[in-house]
Amino acid sequence: MADSQKKLTIIKPDDWHLHLRDHNALRTTVPFACRGFGRGIIMPNLVPPVVTVDLAIKYKQRILANIPDSSSWSPLMVLFLTDLTSPEEIYKAHDSKAIFGAKLYPAGATTNSETGVTDLRKLTKTFEAMEEVGMVLQIHGESTEKGVDIFDREPVFIEKTLKPLVEKFPELKISLEHITTLDSVEYIMNQSDTVYGSITPQHLLFNRNDMLVGGIRPHLFCLPILKRERHQQSLIKAATSGNKKFFLGTDSAPHSKDKKENACGCAGCYSHLSAIELYAEIFDQLNSLDQLENFASKNGPDFYGLPYNDSFITLKKHKWTIPSSIKYMDTTLVPLGADMQLNWQLVQ
Ligand code: NCD
Ligand code: ZN
Repeated sequence: MADSQKKLTIIKPDDWHLHLRDHNALRTTVPFACRGFGRGIIMPNLVPPVVTVDLAIKYKQRILANIPDSSSWSPLMVLFLTDLTSPEEIYKAHDSKAIFGAKLYPAGATTNSETGVTDLRKLTKTFEAMEEVGMVLQIHGESTEKGVDIFDREPVFIEKTLKPLVEKFPELKISLEHITTLDSVEYIMNQSDTVYGSITPQHLLFNRNDMLVGGIRPHLFCLPILKRERHQQSLIKAATSGNKKFFLGTDSAPHSKDKKENACGCAGCYSHLSAIELYAEIFDQLNSLDQLENFASKNGPDFYGLPYNDSFITLKKHKWTIPSSIKYMDTTLVPLGADMQLNWQLVQ
């Protein structure tokens, strides 16, 4: 085997969507978030959520205290939008140089989003301020309208909410987070340069049959929920195509084993034990490893207007198995792909 088939070196990737939780959880989640990544966009859905610049900066300090000495990783903080987020808070966020976006959760769409936005019209001045300073709006794109089927929430959101939003604010930089459908892929591809999308490893590797056929697999349950196979295929094509509008965002979201394996299980997949390798696996299957660097290391910084990382990572072709669980505070955490064998491994 030629050396190029055994090793792959790329510019260090970034993770444009991840959840670290807070306090003691950071002892586990921060070191894993640094694994293979230069920067990470830190989701603000804490309890209570990160609704102000001051709260974001304090949260950042708690994160920084848990970064291993050997790592140069940096957390990029995000504001949680509510109906009350003011334009002044956006200007303050911009001036702080610590905030890299504001996250729109439709109220109740997902974990810890109850105080999210109930009516976008309340944020007209706030979106105008974001447009003015060039701040990215990260969107959890699911309709919360009563009666909308859980598998249709993303396309309904695009039609009823995203399209009017993009028309009203044509200069607003929008990242449609963790896209899961062909509808999102097509919508993003047909938009001007302001609308991009991030893609998780779970939505590339699995579809709803993997989650439900032969028994329910709670560790594959996340939001937006896994969709049917043709949607999975459209995401794989978008990610591996080299199209600059799609980039890496793991949505790694830890919930303890007991909260996942539960009569009312939490939504979220924890992928940071093997995130870059899970993506490499898919790109390899599609013979597209030459596109991994664009997706993982270049398209995201280009969208956010940030430089590429100035270091590199190497993946080697080497079989290894994702652990079945790890310790997490006083409980355990089951990673995405637990016990799965991978063909690529990050050289640490
Ligand atoms: C996330 C979490 O647990 O915070 N869960 C998930 O299923 N993705 C929230 C989110 O990003 O939707
Ligand atoms: Zn998320």
